[in-house]
Amino acid sequence: MRVLVTGGAGFIGSHLADALLARGDEVAVADDMSAGRSSRVPGQAVTHKVSVTDGNLLAAVVGDYRPDLICHLAAQIDVRVSVAQPALDAQANVIGTVNVLEAARATGARVLFGSTGAVIYGRDAPIPSREDVLPLPESPYGVAKHCGEQYVQLYNRLHGATHAVLRFANVYGPRQDPAGAAGVVAIFCAQALAGERPTVYGDGLQTRDYVYVGDAVSACLAAADSGRPGTWNIGSGTEVSVLELIRMIARVAGHAIDPVFAPARPGELLRGALASDQARRDLGWDASTPLDEGVARTYRWIEAGTPERAGW
Ligand SMILES: NC(=O)c1ccc[n+]([C@@H]2O[C@H](COP(=O)([O-])OP(=O)(O)OC[C@H]3O[C@@H](n4cnc5c(N)ncnc54)[C@H](O)[C@@H]3O)[C@@H](O)[C@H]2O)c1
Repeated sequence: MRVLVTGGAGFIGSHLADALLARGDEVAVADDMSAGRSSRVPGQAVTHKVSVTDGNLLAAVVGDYRPDLICHLAAQIDVRVSVAQPALDAQANVIGTVNVLEAARATGARVLFGSTGAVIYGRDAPIPSREDVLPLPESPYGVAKHCGEQYVQLYNRLHGATHAVLRFANVYGPRQDPAGAAGVVAIFCAQALAGERPTVYGDGLQTRDYVYVGDAVSACLAAADSGRPGTWNIGSGTEVSVLELIRMIARVAGHAIDPVFAPARPGELLRGALASDQARRDLGWDASTPLDEGVARTYRWIEAGTPERAGW
């Protein structure tokens, strides 16, 4: 397959580029480098510095490369930025997605859209949440992702496409920026290594669903190969509290971690986990990496100095 990965210089996208190349696919990357690094992109993949908000330039890149599949992972991913600058977020996450769909329509490419399961379901959603729960996002980022999904599904109805949506849980692993705004596993591992105390907002009993980046990538490959349209949750189905996560990191670090407690952040969801039975049934996908193993790999990667291309 010839695959264009938008956001391919980022955390998930660069792992996906590696995996596609490893199985013999041809890969190009489209990334504006706002958070991406070219040193993460495997040498065999050509990188185009382009923003998905620039519809004309993107269409030219897609028109030249003529991919069979576009894995659309480029996004403004910071929920707090989306609250402060919702128009900027919508520009990247809504208009950018429409531009990708239009470029795909012009060339006949299929699109795989990286959405979120972590912040798309509302606070009253049953846990673990299934795909048929009505999305009620609490942030502009969640609304924009939901809107992107709606466009993807519309293109399937309107133009007979077979595009697909993956709703990722909290993806973690090597190459996630330990200094970034998202990615609590990497942030806490880096703090443990630096001998710093992590800050826990609220009582630390709030839960999230963590999925290892290698499993998120295998979900992309399974959805790419299936060729079928659909929307799938990609998570472990397991609720893990912030305090449990800290205890797990402490076991890997070999010393106790004593967090600092701060007031709960307004708007933060108390619980989250995704039911991924549909992905298991339709795609034969399962989250196979146990959290303690994935956490240990992330810790070792940070301990090794966060190398871009190996070290875990
Ligand atoms: N990491 C998670 O836990 C998680 C959870 C749910 C969904 N997702 C989604 O998965 C995708 C990848 O996330 P990630 O964690 O790898 O983030 P990331 O920030 O590491 O990667 C995103 C990449 O997109 C690029 N980018 C940003 N805006 C762009 C634009 N306008 N045009 C072109 N490139 C642009 C960035 O430079 C970066 O390389 C995103 O769509 C994100 O919303 C991630």
